[in-house]
Amino acid sequence: MNVPQHVAIILDGNGRWAKSKGMPRTFGHTQGAKNVENICRIAWNKGIKYLTVYAFSTENWSRPGDEVNAIMDLLRSYLKTCKNTAEKNHMRVRIIGDKTGLAEDIQKSIRELEEFSRDFDGLNFQIALNYGSRDEIVRAVNLILKEKEKGILPGDGIVTEEMISSHLDTAGIPDPDLLIRTSGEMRLSNYLLWQCAYTEFYFTDVHWPAFTEEELVKALEHYSSRQRRFGKTGEQVE
Ligand code: FPP
Repeated sequence: MNVPQHVAIILDGNGRWAKSKGMPRTFGHTQGAKNVENICRIAWNKGIKYLTVYAFSTENWSRPGDEVNAIMDLLRSYLKTCKNTAEKNHMRVRIIGDKTGLAEDIQKSIRELEEFSRDFDGLNFQIALNYGSRDEIVRAVNLILKEKEKGILPGDGIVTEEMISSHLDTAGIPDPDLLIRTSGEMRLSNYLLWQCAYTEFYFTDVHWPAFTEEELVKALEHYSSRQRRFGKTGEQVE
């Protein structure tokens, strides 16, 4: 099987899954967070090297205050336990998104976790937090403008694709080969718009907390059956 190097996932359906069980939405988020840990382990065992999950978007702030607080508390405790998981599995963890919009204690946990795991050579695990792709691109363009102003922009002052890529939060991380979205919606919802230019998409009706190893294998089989085409040359990659 042709295994994708980088899999990106839009974790959707925590709320609907909980409702279907007669439970509150926050229970869905708790189970969703547990499933993230399972899928990290399974993905690495399948040969996936990079996994990027959409945990909280710039738009998610508009959810009811109680739900936002519950998700933030869940992320707080996840970022703490993640240190142990990272150490055990040699997982490198990075956060993408506008970290400055997160609570100070969460930013501190992120700094510690990123620093602690930076030399680990297992799964490269990216968590998108307060992430929106358009916001990421705007921040990258502003960084480039600032460098130009300071006269430290490399090259001849012309902005290139490589320059934009290297100023995104995902700088140095290869583009996703496969994007999975759970729970039935078929849209990108402002996720990795630049990075997904040539990515294969896989949509499933299964809600995120119920997305098991078997479901991941289905997505990987779908990917493996595709012939990928890249850009202008139409070059096929096996
Ligand atoms: C998706 O379901 C839920 C979210 C995008 C918010 C919270 C995500 C988690 C708690 C996963 C945790 C991730 C980590 C890294 C710990 P939804 O609420 O949009 O479900 P619905 O569409 O059924 O309402």
